[in-house]
Amino acid sequence: MRHDVTKNIANKFDKYAISYDENAYLQSQIADYFSLFIQKNCINIDKICEIGCGTGNLTQKISKIFTNSSITALDISKNSIEIAKKKVENSNVKFKIESAINCKYTDYDGIISSMSLHWLGENLLEFLKTLEVNYAYFAIPVENSLMQVKNRILELGALDTITKFPKNADIIEVLGQKFNIKSEIFRVKTQMQMNKAIKNLAKFGTLSNNRNSIANIKKILEDNKIIDIDYEVLMLFCERK
Ligand SMILES: C[S@@+](CC[C@H](N)C(=O)[O-])C[C@H]1O[C@@H](n2cnc3c(N)ncnc32)[C@H](O)[C@@H]1O
Repeated sequence: MRHDVTKNIANKFDKYAISYDENAYLQSQIADYFSLFIQKNCINIDKICEIGCGTGNLTQKISKIFTNSSITALDISKNSIEIAKKKVENSNVKFKIESAINCKYTDYDGIISSMSLHWLGENLLEFLKTLEVNYAYFAIPVENSLMQVKNRILELGALDTITKFPKNADIIEVLGQKFNIKSEIFRVKTQMQMNKAIKNLAKFGTLSNNRNSIANIKKILEDNKIIDIDYEVLMLFCERK
């Protein structure tokens, strides 16, 4: 993954770290459901790596599920990690500023990640293909996420410039080559005016790269139609075959 792309994502999350929790009600519901999914499929894992821990919402939950494991929670956003450190009391958790791409996964027995791996973009499938761990729990927003926002952007005559979400079938096909998989789809939504939704995209877990004309951006920013902000999240428990 290009260094400047990762840097850009890290900068965005550094900027939003302080207000992330008050805006991340969708991510918080996803973390709640995901931790139940993990509990249902819980097994003993000695060394766990959490990828993209952000402000630690899931980290604090998994530290209570895997009480006998050592957990390393990593993220590229320093400011998010600073907030996470204050939230997580259990001494079995260490934090690290590191990219998912550079991490040495052979140091771990299992990995966990919620609402973060889609940021790897076109590198996601290669990342999953080369993953060398025995167990993995993933919550990944997939293809039908933010459909109404995308459709509204097109209705307004602008380009759909929102981060592309991966396809369920591609993820399952790649992981299925190495792992036995249990999967569930979790859907979550809220409603908002289009102009507010666009301004808050990063806080919902995606970005628009503004390749639109000034006139089109203006149309989007003035649009007060209420739309759904909806996520379709693929939850996976993977056990090495
Ligand atoms: C939407 S937040 C999710 C945070 C947390 N897991 C949650 O559910 O609230 C996505 C996080 O992924 C992190 N992230 C994005 N790309 C990353 C990468 N290549 N390596 C590690 N973390 C990354 C971001 O910095 C951000 O904190």
